[in-house]
Amino acid sequence: MKDTIVLGIESSCDETAVAIVKNRKEVLSSVVASQIDVHKEFGGVVPEVASRIHVENISMVIDQALKKAGCTMEEIDAVAVTQGPGLVGCLHIGLQAAKTMAWTFHKPLVAVHHIAGHIFANEMVSDLQYPLLALVVSGGHTELVYLKDENSFEVLGETQDDAIGEAFDKVARVMGLPYPGGPQIDRLAKEGNNVYALAKPKTENPMDFSFSGLKSSVLQFQARCARRQENFVPADLACSFQETALEALLSRVTYALDHVSGIRHFVVAGGVAANSRLRTLITETIAPNYPQIRFTIPPLSCCTDNAAMIAIAGTIAYQHGRRSSFDIGAQPGMPL
Ligand code: KG4
Ligand code: ZN
Repeated sequence: MKDTIVLGIESSCDETAVAIVKNRKEVLSSVVASQIDVHKEFGGVVPEVASRIHVENISMVIDQALKKAGCTMEEIDAVAVTQGPGLVGCLHIGLQAAKTMAWTFHKPLVAVHHIAGHIFANEMVSDLQYPLLALVVSGGHTELVYLKDENSFEVLGETQDDAIGEAFDKVARVMGLPYPGGPQIDRLAKEGNNVYALAKPKTENPMDFSFSGLKSSVLQFQARCARRQENFVPADLACSFQETALEALLSRVTYALDHVSGIRHFVVAGGVAANSRLRTLITETIAPNYPQIRFTIPPLSCCTDNAAMIAIAGTIAYQHGRRSSFDIGAQPGMPL
């Protein structure tokens, strides 16, 4: 069978990324220009600044990805790009670059959903089995997604307020930890104990999520300690927050695994999948209870935003005959 080589472009938030992937699995190159150092100074992503840096970086990153892969545009079958969700100005830059490349070199354009990209990042390490259940946990998303096959997505549950990554980042920020806060909480929690009682997230739908109450509970705890001039142990607070957040997250996962019939594969996707405690809890406490289901947690490099995942999602869409018109625009709130 003829090889399928796809160039993927990702610019939905603060990473300018371009990758070239052959036959869904073989990552020929994956270049990520991170803006973290710039946004660190502001304690979070500043959309206007992010868009400008994407403009400065995108041509260079495309060039590097082609050089590293040892590819010319003639060998590329399609150009895949994140259409949404994400920051509108940031998405525009990737879309314009993708359209320009596709137009100039007469290649089909394939628009991709960022979350589909996170889910299909697991293709890099596993042959996905369907029906599949994906737990998507990132800075902008917390969702349980059911895939009957690789071409159908059903959102079973989603966050009613903050995404889990957002809660990690906000709690870290009020604790004076640098951006992005998720990895900082993860590190600090290892030195602490789960000793502070925080608000447990509640939702009507047993597969929905909610993290704003827990976040407020941490803020109130800190304010109370300050008012009473009481000391608290930051590592214990990090650990208590992380344990409460993960317990709420995983109780929804076990509910879905128990109630949705026929699941053959469970995958985790998105930046928060890099959380070491989440990885341990899934592998040691959940997976052994479901021996009939395959569990995959992607390696850290595939968890956070990259373009290989967009190239893979683009390859799957391309192989299913999907093509995008050149007049598509960014969709910041794109549905899955
Ligand atoms: O998927 P991603 O790179 O970007 C989005 O699409 O949002 O996810 C970034 C999020 C941030 O909130 C970051 O703090 C979080 O993933 N994150 C973590 C860890 N590493 C990254 N959260 C908890 N523990 C970690 N080790
Ligand atoms: Zn992401």
